[in-house]
Amino acid sequence: MEKQIKTIGVLTSGGDAPGMNAAVRAVVRTGLHKGFRMIGIQRGYNGLLNGECFEMNLRSVSNIISAGGTILYTARCLEFKTKEGQDKGAAKCRELGIDALVVIGGDGSYRGARELAHRGIPMIGLPGTIDNDIACTEYTIGYDTAMNTALEMIDKLRDTTQSHDRCSVVEVMGRNAGYIALNVAIASGAMAVLLPEKEFDMQRDILDKIVETQRTGKRHFIVIVAEGIGHSQEIANEIQARTGIDTRATILGHVQRGGSPTLRDRVNASAMGYHAVCLLEQGKYNRIVGMKGEELVDYPVDEALEMTKSIDPVLVDVCNTISICFFEHSAELYFSVKRGKAALLFLFTKNTVLWYTIARESRRGALSRVRQESGTVELEQAKKRVEELRAVIEKNNRLYYDQDAPELEDFEYDALMRELKAVSYTHLTLPTILRV
Ligand code: ADP
Ligand code: F6P
Repeated sequence: MEKQIKTIGVLTSGGDAPGMNAAVRAVVRTGLHKGFRMIGIQRGYNGLLNGECFEMNLRSVSNIISAGGTILYTARCLEFKTKEGQDKGAAKCRELGIDALVVIGGDGSYRGARELAHRGIPMIGLPGTIDNDIACTEYTIGYDTAMNTALEMIDKLRDTTQSHDRCSVVEVMGRNAGYIALNVAIASGAMAVLLPEKEFDMQRDILDKIVETQRTGKRHFIVIVAEGIGHSQEIANEIQARTGIDTRATILGHVQRGGSPTLRDRVNASAMGYHAVCLLEQGKYNRIVGMKGEELVDYPVDEALEMTKSIDPVLVDVCNTISICFFEHSAELYFSVKRGKAALLFLFTKNTVLWYTIARESRRGALSRVRQESGTVELEQAKKRVEELRAVIEKNNRLYYDQDAPELEDFEYDALMRELKAVSYTHLTLPTILRV
């Protein structure tokens, strides 16, 4: 028969995260409401070993729901990784009258708490980390705030990056996980993202993309780098050296861990804190609380620590698809005008190259006419032709025309664009047209 729980200890451990205070508040208030005595333990397992504890009442958690950080402080504790430290921790709990523990932190903190559970102190774990790298939950306390903070910073960087026609390489936190990086890349409209979960090729995934999107008129670039990839300054240096684009690296760093928690973090932290105490009340010990969609879930700690999770491949595809990517997901247009000949126009989509001819209505007519004359052409052949056209266009920095063909000087770019609009393209938007 399990010992009846009268006193619950609560601590925060590992890296702090916005919303930890909301979770502490919920644990304390729910505990008091259900008649438990509540003890706050400061500085994680360090505080437990040193007896840095205090009794908490309703007022101990007043006015903290909007505060970042953790009022219980947090620390990493090497001693607690040893058997002696864990024995001492369990003895301290008994000495302080702590019958069960709610631990707000990550996997490392749960491992520590599991050692206490093995020594007869039941535990409940709440996921508190900005990294969202806890396998048994889709959401961790602090993740939403950290992403919004990073996004706000990247939006500001975009302003200056755009004004100077630069490239910004922005490193975001996440330890070995790319959840923050992928989400902020999508939300900030970044051109590329490098994730620890996905192999990347500098040439293919960054340099080629920059050069190709430059040809569509794009002049500033945001590249998000997950902390697990690192080397942001080197990546920025390489981009600058190999593309000639002025490039800056910004490591957002610990700013992402601070700030007032978002509504989502406050609500989820409150619900999880409440749930933790309900589990203890029901005698459901040694479990980790998480969220699956909008639902609260909980798993035995052993099972939770065995679970794995991976980055959502659909989100990766969303990110790649809507950042401009030549020859894969976007359309681009090239044309040349030669004396007495129709202009050629190539439209690239993921797997096909469509081509059109642009013919003049009459010899002296100013308006050119677009005819959807043909279907697909062979990809390699079209690429080769485009390279030839590109060379001519770059050399002349304008629509190419033969010096012997003065009648083509009245070729009207805007009129052609109007004509193009009239053609029922489903996959071409005019901003992707190369204006030369
Ligand atoms: P997180 O909880 O965010 O994963 P850490 O990995 O730094 O953060 O772990 C927080 C603390 O939990 C550590 O400082 C240590 O005191 C304790 N801890 C981590 N791993 C273990 C372990 N394997 N056994 C016992 N305690 C551990
Ligand atoms: O786990 C949260 C986190 O901020 C990670 O994103 C980062 O790798 C790490 O903690 C930084 O740890 P510290 O605060 O010890 O520098």
